[in-house]
Amino acid sequence: MFEQLTFLRSWFTNPWRVGAIAPSSRQLASLITVEITARHAPVIELGAGTGVFARRLVANGFPEDRLALVERDPRFAGMLRERFPQARVLEIDAAHPAAMTPFGDVAAGAVISGLPLLWLPRRSVMRILRSAFGNLRADGAFYQFTYGLRCPVPAPVLDRFELSAQRIGNCLVNVPPASVYRITRRRYAPVAASAPARAASRPAPLERLPRTGGISAD
Ligand SMILES: C[S@@+](CC[C@H](N)C(=O)[O-])C[C@H]1O[C@@H](n2cnc3c(N)ncnc32)[C@H](O)[C@@H]1O
Repeated sequence: MFEQLTFLRSWFTNPWRVGAIAPSSRQLASLITVEITARHAPVIELGAGTGVFARRLVANGFPEDRLALVERDPRFAGMLRERFPQARVLEIDAAHPAAMTPFGDVAAGAVISGLPLLWLPRRSVMRILRSAFGNLRADGAFYQFTYGLRCPVPAPVLDRFELSAQRIGNCLVNVPPASVYRITRRRYAPVAASAPARAASRPAPLERLPRTGGISAD
């Protein structure tokens, strides 16, 4: 109940930024974390909100101290610090270039995103992807949920950054119903849960944002 009230208060303050009128459901949390195990550590969550996804990961045995929770809203960030005292809570804008290196030189095996990408300008979506993939291993995956009917990352952006998107499932038990996409670099297969842990090396960054021409900034 407290969670829902906090969510509603933040939604009234800034509906476009929060992007939902209710916290994600447990079912959506199960779907978006279904492929993630301790082998993917560290893991970064963008737009962690009330921490529903982080709670699912920790309940599944994922080490809390290998989680970084990125959240711009101070109300949610405070709640996350209380709930996940061992996690790194970064009260920053996920779209800010180079704002995020939560584990220094160690790259993450997965990024989970609750950011309202559908409502963000294309340039911000590109910045978020560049920053996230700059923190991911070559074979790491970016998991994004959406209320839309398609992947919230537009096809020209996927092409430009040589990324593939695959829908891994739908969740009807959520307000509103949602789908989850796995986005990976085209040249690398995602980390398999059963595979031995790989060296946490960083690949080359995604192509730089074009200054003029190319993909428009909406
Ligand atoms: C749909 S809500 C989060 C849902 C979350 N799974 C939950 O159940 O609480 C999106 C979250 O992203 C945060 N957010 C939006 N834009 C952001 C940005 N640029 N950087 C960091 N956080 C952002 C909002 O404050 C909000 O908490």
